[in-house]
Amino acid sequence: MKGVVLSGGTGSRLRPITFSMAKQLVPVANKPILFYGLEDLAEAGIEDVAIIIAPQTGDEIRHTVGDGSKLGLNIEYIVQDEPLGLAHALKMALPFVDGDDVLMYLGDNLVKQGVADVVKDFERDKPNCQILLTEVEDPSQFGVAELGPAGEVKRLVEKPSNPRSNLALVGVYLFDQVVTEAVNSIQPSARGELEITDAIQYLVTSGRDVRPSLVTGWWKDTGKKEDLLHANELVLTDLDGEVLGEVVEGKIRGAVRIGAGSQVVDCSITGPVVIGDNVHLARTTVGPNTAIGDGCRLVDTSVEESIVLDGAEIHGWSIRNSLIGRGATLRGAAPAGYAEVTLGERSEILGE
Ligand code: TTP
Repeated sequence: MKGVVLSGGTGSRLRPITFSMAKQLVPVANKPILFYGLEDLAEAGIEDVAIIIAPQTGDEIRHTVGDGSKLGLNIEYIVQDEPLGLAHALKMALPFVDGDDVLMYLGDNLVKQGVADVVKDFERDKPNCQILLTEVEDPSQFGVAELGPAGEVKRLVEKPSNPRSNLALVGVYLFDQVVTEAVNSIQPSARGELEITDAIQYLVTSGRDVRPSLVTGWWKDTGKKEDLLHANELVLTDLDGEVLGEVVEGKIRGAVRIGAGSQVVDCSITGPVVIGDNVHLARTTVGPNTAIGDGCRLVDTSVEESIVLDGAEIHGWSIRNSLIGRGATLRGAAPAGYAEVTLGERSEILGE
């Protein structure tokens, strides 16, 4: 089986962060989201993987992920000139798939249970297509599956205004060689994209064996800030504490990781919290559910339920539910209480 990981797209819902970086490289618990999916593929025994990239962000992805050898994968890259849909991205990968079975994984998704079990099921039962479903509260935001009385897939609709079920499609799809016919038989939707739901609906309508399986652990599409912060919280739940840096005075409770070369002086840290390498924290309260990237500097600050990317600086602010871009700065007079901030790369807020 081959893997196709979708890491193109525009990431418009994660602006301003995605003005300057690929959304699949935004870190969750200090690891780029994309690596979770790639590790899942490696764990499932998939070795040959194509990553679909966009011209704007592809180089950074190539540079960060490389040839995949560190992950035990052979990775090649396919540039999708325009984000013309998930099925369009898969269509671009058909020469790479070359008639093999394929697992398509959305590069901004996190699946707690991984994909090893579903790959095993697919290889054992050999359906034409296998989709993963999970119950959601707001199905109109997702691709939605309607099942028949025997649990068979009846209908798939992309972002329905009147959803007939609460079963959303998780961003992992498996196909045998019928994938070529499926993606070549559909037309762009009203929003101008080749929809993966239409390709799978084509298989259902033409009587192919499309199996649903319910996801047991959590699943997260990190396309929006709230979901990204929630994913950070979910991943941090399993964190093991480890202090490599230096802690001078202050209190540390719960699972806390502090990277090498970091200095934590007179701080109160309540896990789960991950702090990268070469971070300087002074008189600062951190946590819970917070990730602070490498080289950050936080002084007289409080941060909870947030992601702070590499090289950011915060002086004197209290923030929660915030996403602070690489090398961004928050300083000067802060608002009273906790602020919710989303700050793009190398941007500054200088309170008056
Ligand atoms: P989406 O989150 O649906 O699309 P997007 O990245 O364009 O986001 P937004 O709506 O915020 O602008 O895409 C899911 C994943 O698939 C994501 O990793 C991007 C990737 N993708 C492609 O590689 N090619 C495409 O044509 C599209 C639409 C998405």
